[in-house]
Amino acid sequence: MENATVVVSGTKIAQEISGNRSEVWRLMQQLRGLGVDVAGHQATGYQLRSVPDLLLPEILRPLLRGTIFEAHLHHFYKIGSTNTAALAAAADGAPEGTVFLAEEQTAGRGRGSNSWQSARSAGIYCSVILRPVLPPSDVLVLSLAAGLAVQAAIQQVDSGVNADLKWPNDVLIDGKKVCGILAEMNAEATRVRHIVAGIGINVNQASFPKELGATSLRLVTGSEWSRVELAGALLKSLDREYRTLVDDPDARESILQRFAERSSWTRGKQVRVDENGVVIEGVTEGLDPRGFLQVRTGKGLQTILSGTVRGKE
Ligand code: BTN
Repeated sequence: MENATVVVSGTKIAQEISGNRSEVWRLMQQLRGLGVDVAGHQATGYQLRSVPDLLLPEILRPLLRGTIFEAHLHHFYKIGSTNTAALAAAADGAPEGTVFLAEEQTAGRGRGSNSWQSARSAGIYCSVILRPVLPPSDVLVLSLAAGLAVQAAIQQVDSGVNADLKWPNDVLIDGKKVCGILAEMNAEATRVRHIVAGIGINVNQASFPKELGATSLRLVTGSEWSRVELAGALLKSLDREYRTLVDDPDARESILQRFAERSSWTRGKQVRVDENGVVIEGVTEGLDPRGFLQVRTGKGLQTILSGTVRGKE
């Protein structure tokens, strides 16, 4: 991967795969059929014109040096759900920092009983295993931090894009959802065993059904994004947030403060919240010290523990 776009002779490739030059030619044709941009032919040697934008461990690893995510990257062309796979691996003892990435999910899961549209190589579908020494009550703060990490990664790749955060951890652009986060945990009453943070980012999708209220980074900016660059920025930024949270006793306060600063939804927003069938309407009034959303209603200040927040004009 370090010299991905040099010219390599057909003979050398044939040696490496213990085959012959016509076999190499056939494989090159197959790669071209899959959309890989390979120049050259048997006589001149072959050359990748550009590195494909696939979330392969070999491509991502150099971007993740020094992070907890460097060592255990797993990539799938097609999978049911990276969260489901990561939960199973975590239960089997997979180490902290294990990452599951997929080009396509056939059963992508969202919060509640929602599904997550996961078209092939259009978005980033990523789940990470974390094993923080934290009480379960701190996991909400961790999932707020994941939203901050996504927002920062988008900004880092294109500083002209302003992403908003909607409690608990949706990322929106122009009021439309560009990223969702599904944090699932296995815990005892006072101790987290493991958390799987699943992040879905709409990157290069060209359209969405209107009723989804979704958008992609490509739709917002009018140009294709490198998923590799964004996934690298995301995992680096998540690593920074996570390490700070587990190492620094003041991190929790900083996360809540930054979330409130970077989310237009946290204060002064007229909302309607469906909390497991109970509907609460009012105006948002900040986060409480545990990270729960507070809403001023006709009945006083109410704390939202879960559910979906929607805007109300
Ligand atoms: C939401 O409903 O907003 C959360 C969506 C989370 C989607 C991601 S995609 C990667 C990971 N695998 C899943 O099945 N879901 C999460």
